[in-house]
Amino acid sequence: MSVPEISAASPSAPWFAAGYALRAHNTFGFDVRARFACRVATEAELLAAVRDARAQGMAALVLGGGSNVVFTRDFNGLVLLMSLAGKRVVREDGEAWHVEAAAGENWHDFVAWTLEAGMPGLENLALIPGTVGAAPIQNIGAYGLEMAERCASVRAIELATGEAVEFDAAACRFGYRDSFFKREGRDRFVITSVTFRLPKAWQPNANYADLARELARRATQTPVDARAVFDAVVAVRRAKLPDPLELGNAGSFFKNPVIDAAPFEALRAREPEIVSYAQADGRVKLAAGWMIDRCGWKGRALRGAAVHERQALVLVNRGGATGADILELAQAIRGDVLARFGVELEQEPVCL
Ligand code: EPU
Repeated sequence: MSVPEISAASPSAPWFAAGYALRAHNTFGFDVRARFACRVATEAELLAAVRDARAQGMAALVLGGGSNVVFTRDFNGLVLLMSLAGKRVVREDGEAWHVEAAAGENWHDFVAWTLEAGMPGLENLALIPGTVGAAPIQNIGAYGLEMAERCASVRAIELATGEAVEFDAAACRFGYRDSFFKREGRDRFVITSVTFRLPKAWQPNANYADLARELARRATQTPVDARAVFDAVVAVRRAKLPDPLELGNAGSFFKNPVIDAAPFEALRAREPEIVSYAQADGRVKLAAGWMIDRCGWKGRALRGAAVHERQALVLVNRGGATGADILELAQAIRGDVLARFGVELEQEPVCL
């Protein structure tokens, strides 16, 4: 492709760069570059930048915190660094607070802000890397809560029309690590803000084994308040999951597979210790981390790519790894899990 007409002299957005290093914009810390990058702080800037890129026949990539991507090579297009900012209470009634945050807000800072403002409900999702705008795409979840349970609506720009569209929670079609935006809406819509409904009738959600153990260990006063849950979630995550600033990673590299009851019973007969969670629809979710661990992968490395020592579901960049190294490691893990358990693992981060 020839050098496009977009140049630093005529950017759509006020901030623009060529040959831009993405190392600080992907939590694996891969040393890749974007042909161009620009920061977008408003919906108008976002739309103008996408349209500019398309007019030049260039791919455009919207990047939030870069916590769910694997770059396998330089990005030969325009990266849009989402900088839409702002958070506010849009409505409060007797039953709930409705809180809106712009897509570029840091997720954890937003969760902390809601708690400081006395609005509990998101504490189980503390310390998840990434931005607010990325949260609905894979319906982030942890320690017994998915963001879908607190999502009131998602605002997104339809790229074809330039119109802002408001999706209520049902229209987002949330599933386990899944949504409309990950499937049919992919490349068609860009999320610009999310509104949460935080019910005033708050109850702690502290049944998840690791979380309950941590709260017990801390001898937290009962009744447990949202701050205590937040602190315990932060402690559990720090103990188990690597901080991307210290050790590059994208959280869980695979989804926990969900299988039918009959094959599960057959599997359990062969693997009596298998860790599983019954689902409301009768199916069974399997702990992929446990299976990978059982295959002996924990702590093993392939060049700079490795399986985390404390959580086998997390692949890490020990330094100098490429996206291709991570994918090669992932493929070897997938093969072993399939051979031993007969289960296919599905990759969670998006491969670019
Ligand atoms: N396990 C092992 N060995 C391992 C890892 C896990 O035996 O190396 C066992 C654990 O002992 C436990 C079970 O597997 O019995 C599940 O492990 P854990 O509680 O750590 O949770 P997970 O299922 O591995 C999921 C999410 C995480 C989320 C945690 C807590 C997915 C793909 N991952 O992990 O989300 O933080 O539950 O709710 O659903 C992410 O999506 O990036 C992420 C970190």
